[in-house]
Amino acid sequence: MANGSSFFVTTPIFYVNDVPHIGHAYTEVAADVLARWHRQAGDDTWLLTGTDEHGQKILRTATQHNTTPKEWADRLVETAWLPLLGTLNISNDDFIRTTEPRHEVSTQKFLTQLRDAGYIYEGEYEGAYCVGCEEYKHDADLVDGTGDYVGLMVCAIHSKPVELLHEKNYFFRMSDFQQQLIDLYEQNPLFVQPEAARNEVMAFVRRGLDDLSISRSSFDWGIKVPWDDSHVVYVWFEALLNYITATGYGQDEELFARRWPATHLVGRDILRFHAVIWPAMLMAAGLPVPKQVFGHGWLLVGGEKMSKSKLTGIAPTEITDTFGSDAFRYYFMRAIGFGHDGSFSWEDLSARYQAELANGFGNLASRTLAMVTKYFGGAVPAPAGYSDADLAIQAVVSAAATQADAAIERLAIHEAIHAIWTIVEELNGYITLQEPWALAKDEANRARLGTVLYTAAEGLRALAVLLSPVMPLACGRLWTALGVEARLGTLTAQRIREAGQWGQLPVGTVVGALESLFPRIEQAPGA
Ligand code: ME8
Ligand code: MG
Repeated sequence: MANGSSFFVTTPIFYVNDVPHIGHAYTEVAADVLARWHRQAGDDTWLLTGTDEHGQKILRTATQHNTTPKEWADRLVETAWLPLLGTLNISNDDFIRTTEPRHEVSTQKFLTQLRDAGYIYEGEYEGAYCVGCEEYKHDADLVDGTGDYVGLMVCAIHSKPVELLHEKNYFFRMSDFQQQLIDLYEQNPLFVQPEAARNEVMAFVRRGLDDLSISRSSFDWGIKVPWDDSHVVYVWFEALLNYITATGYGQDEELFARRWPATHLVGRDILRFHAVIWPAMLMAAGLPVPKQVFGHGWLLVGGEKMSKSKLTGIAPTEITDTFGSDAFRYYFMRAIGFGHDGSFSWEDLSARYQAELANGFGNLASRTLAMVTKYFGGAVPAPAGYSDADLAIQAVVSAAATQADAAIERLAIHEAIHAIWTIVEELNGYITLQEPWALAKDEANRARLGTVLYTAAEGLRALAVLLSPVMPLACGRLWTALGVEARLGTLTAQRIREAGQWGQLPVGTVVGALESLFPRIEQAPGA
């Protein structure tokens, strides 16, 4: 990808009925790694996240807690959802709440636009609704209830009874867009990714689309339909609009044109909303469709999808309090193929922390800097002639940087980290083989020792740059210890697509002490 392109990435806006768990954190971290990578590539980058605050689910939660939905949402945003961003070290550029005026005003504008274009009509809705999903259900989505709900039909996801609705509603003519959607998926095979998600969406659309009920009149916690204030807008219809109401639609067209279209990261649960309903809405309004919708996999705990409603949620701080945010970010991005499901376990996290972070990357950094200090008084030595072994390291660094950028372009975050990690592994092997501690015993090997330690230190320079989107804190400490800021600038100012070019570390740079990048963990929770 050329430097200077624009890159707009989003997470879903999360429901404020409850506090975040590591499933929400997972999407946040993935979006943040992509955003940091693109920012460091010099791309015009924007990371948007936020909260979904209207609808019956939030209204009922608030009522159960004897409060108003707005007070409930404010409390959850302040005490849980904004703090999550700090916990995970997320570099979001904006945070949208659907109760903000900018969202309400632009949502109404969008609705008016669709109505003027003839895509909205008044009708009658009769059918089932799941408040947990905030979704209208077909019979095929329902199963027989068990326990308290024997004899009732329940939502297959929430295992709770659906509610029968019979309301006068406004409808969106979504069925008009079946062919245009199929054309979109066919002409742009990357529009829905990964492949399994694309196949699922295409099969769904080929079966035919119904029109969509987009308003509700039995409660009022929502945005009023502009021409009929006895209705509020259906929460999903409104929530999807956050991606454009936060980036200038209806208010700042120049800004909107600069940001839009987006790459949407979503869990598979909400793939159809993003890959079917959302592009149809945009087509109806004559706006560009998203750049891409990527449906990532589930975090599983004990073999089950972790969820708030099933009480299997793990709070992100349970992990970060012990391991830190960098290890959290690294672990979930490395251990789970992005797009696939993955199981979380404390044992796996602890094992990778120790083997890959502490013994792998951390040890490489500390021993390299310690040897530069011990043998050269802290000043990075000049390389003399390069041997085949040295040139092999240079080739590994160059290939890793190129492969990682290509992987990020495909949103294959795990592959990018895997490619970068070849540098850690090869450099550790190189140091073991070159034995700088043995070279140091004989003054005749001084030039060779300089080459070996320059190679190791320059490899660390590349690693700090390439890993900083994933582990910004540890890489920042490494950058400081390398002592290069005065010569090369800040870490985040380093152009990531040029990170593989050999020889950027200036000879004579004075390295400092490095406290352990990944300190030993005495007792892991859950272990
Ligand atoms: O659906 N594994 O919000 P939500 C991986 N408000 N990711 C998970 C996960 C798990 N076990 N559990 C949750 C909503 N997620 C709507 C979205 S967008 C316009 C409106 C993540 O609070 C994943 O990103 O239920 C999933 O799609 C999202 O949380 C659902 O969050
Ligand atoms: Mg959900």
